[in-house]
Amino acid sequence: MIYITGDTHAMIDWEKLNTREFPEQKDLTRDDYVIVLGDFGGVWDGDKQDRHILKTYAQRNFTTLFIDGNHENHDLLDKYPVEEWNGGKIHRISDNVIHLMRGQVFTIEGMKIFAMGGAESTDREYRREGESWWAREMPSQEEYAEAVRNLEKCGGRVDLMITHCAPEATVLSLNMHGVYSRSKNELTSFFDTLAQTINYNHWFFGHYHNDSDCGKYSLVYDRILKVEKRF
Ligand SMILES: [Fe+2]
Repeated sequence: MIYITGDTHAMIDWEKLNTREFPEQKDLTRDDYVIVLGDFGGVWDGDKQDRHILKTYAQRNFTTLFIDGNHENHDLLDKYPVEEWNGGKIHRISDNVIHLMRGQVFTIEGMKIFAMGGAESTDREYRREGESWWAREMPSQEEYAEAVRNLEKCGGRVDLMITHCAPEATVLSLNMHGVYSRSKNELTSFFDTLAQTINYNHWFFGHYHNDSDCGKYSLVYDRILKVEKRF
């Protein structure tokens, strides 16, 4: 089974994964997945906090998959060795925590899933480079090119799109533009193009700290959604 939830921000927003909030996990195994849509925050200080977080995730029945958000320590993430997993590239953070790298298409539970983390921080002015903000929050040109290549390889057809930020048009239609007035950037424009050219059943994203649905798009934050093949 696959479940999807939104930003966990290290320990700040991870209560939703507790057994009380998410009782279904009692019946899950390591072959079941919970996908965090970015701002996972479990690789942050490379020290005590990370060990505590990863130990807690290690005690969960399920395997946690996450795409990166803007609020990740991208320098630390980039230090993990790259592995192939279910058709795409990953960083294996621990036995049951996996970082799905940008622009990859994975086959999980028979579903083709395009994953692409990254987003532009709106709170950049309150953060320090290399301590709480990293330029790698936005994809590189190679990562955009790899995304296009991987989508071409599967004929431009996937079941799910999972990203941290959303296509610009979706940000507008979900009426988040008041809060995210600076949302338009290279990545949201790239996602606009994908939204128009890729054949997909559903698109899940996080980043905007709200729960809302609009047609094929779901913004996920506090809720945990069970993903069905025909969503
Ligand atoms: Fe966030």
